[in-house]
Amino acid sequence: MKVGVLGSGSMGSGIAQVAATAGHEVYLYDNNPDALQRASKQLQKILNRLVEKGRLTDADSKAIFGRIYFVDSMYAYKDCGIIIEAIIENLDIKKAVFEQLEDVVRKDCILATNTSSLSIASIAAACEHAERVIGIHFFNPAPIMKLVEIIPAIQTSQQVKTKAQSLIDNWGKLTVLAKDTPGFIVNRVARPFYGEALRIYEEGIADVATIDWAMKEIGGFRMGPFTLMDYIGHDVNYTVTETVFKAFYYDPRYKPSFTQKRLAEAGFLGRKSGRGFYDYQDGAEPPKAQEDRELGQKIVNRIVIMLINEAADALYLNIASKKDIDLAMTKGVNYPKGLLQWADEIGINNCVKRLDNLYHTYLEDRYRCSPILRKMARDQHTFFKH
Ligand SMILES: NC(=O)c1ccc[n+]([C@@H]2O[C@H](COP(=O)([O-])OP(=O)(O)OC[C@H]3O[C@@H](n4cnc5c(N)ncnc54)[C@H](O)[C@@H]3O)[C@@H](O)[C@H]2O)c1
Repeated sequence: MKVGVLGSGSMGSGIAQVAATAGHEVYLYDNNPDALQRASKQLQKILNRLVEKGRLTDADSKAIFGRIYFVDSMYAYKDCGIIIEAIIENLDIKKAVFEQLEDVVRKDCILATNTSSLSIASIAAACEHAERVIGIHFFNPAPIMKLVEIIPAIQTSQQVKTKAQSLIDNWGKLTVLAKDTPGFIVNRVARPFYGEALRIYEEGIADVATIDWAMKEIGGFRMGPFTLMDYIGHDVNYTVTETVFKAFYYDPRYKPSFTQKRLAEAGFLGRKSGRGFYDYQDGAEPPKAQEDRELGQKIVNRIVIMLINEAADALYLNIASKKDIDLAMTKGVNYPKGLLQWADEIGINNCVKRLDNLYHTYLEDRYRCSPILRKMARDQHTFFKH
């Protein structure tokens, strides 16, 4: 099957690499010729590095690169079996592009979007044959991250869903099925990793270095929340938070933070601009964490319980299966363990107590315990058999 990739930015070129590595002829198009040229150079560099590291033979690397066609028009998509769109995150632009796509592709061509936050149903609605549209959400960098979320819209046919999922499985990815709701699984369940860390910082309970230290050293997360936000970029991370907040009809659980908004407004975007929560300029001294284990444990408990509540609520609302929710967080964002498994380990009753404690302290809806946890505690159930 020939594969079309639309948009040659960080995601599009990564997806093109994955598809070409799986043996497909790939047609990569971008409406900015400079971006296409950059992608070509970048892909060549990445493949060369894989050869240097001994992960690919020189012949394989040449064959993979040879299967990627950098094309200057969408008409090159005419024989493709699937198109994966990875252009700018803007609903009107995506809708216009999907409408154009339908004019050039075959009748049986699947149209997929890699959107992180837009509704698949609204993108599909731009098409005459909405049943062929589906969300296929890769993580960054696409060639390295194992997880892919498959998001059928209410219009998507069963056949397209099955075909798309087995194709991506065959590319060596681990797919999870998610409902077409804001943030799908990962970007929804992970909100408190940033939001609760920011809240703890804003309350003056600890500084950023201490919160990062606690989450890494005690919580076992790969990166602390502030380091991660600096890495993602405050413009991007703030926008996702704001989009999710609006999409959930202003549910206080997803409320964005002024601290992060100000960083974005000031242009302190994180690593890419040399300054965010931390200073990345040459010679800057990183701040020292206050390595107090008791305080650290409190911080971890508070952020983790909010993550667990979010994961439990996603299950309660049938966003995905419990297995897929745990897989999504361990394989998509490298959490040290699945959040539902973590809840079982803490004890469901203790989870409810921790959440109720927060709720009674703040009397804010943000800390309301998911009904599923309360019911499970009452019935003495666990998420998994132990
Ligand atoms: N960056 C991430 O971490 C990440 C992760 C998962 C999903 N996504 C999603 O993937 C998509 C792309 O993100 P990205 O980070 O690769 O963006 P990017 O800015 O790196 O690349 C987007 C590319 O699309 C091109 N483009 C814009 N409008 C176009 C059009 N009308 N026709 C053809 N090409 C067009 C741009 O020239 C650019 O090269 C977005 O929907 C984003 O939400 C991003």
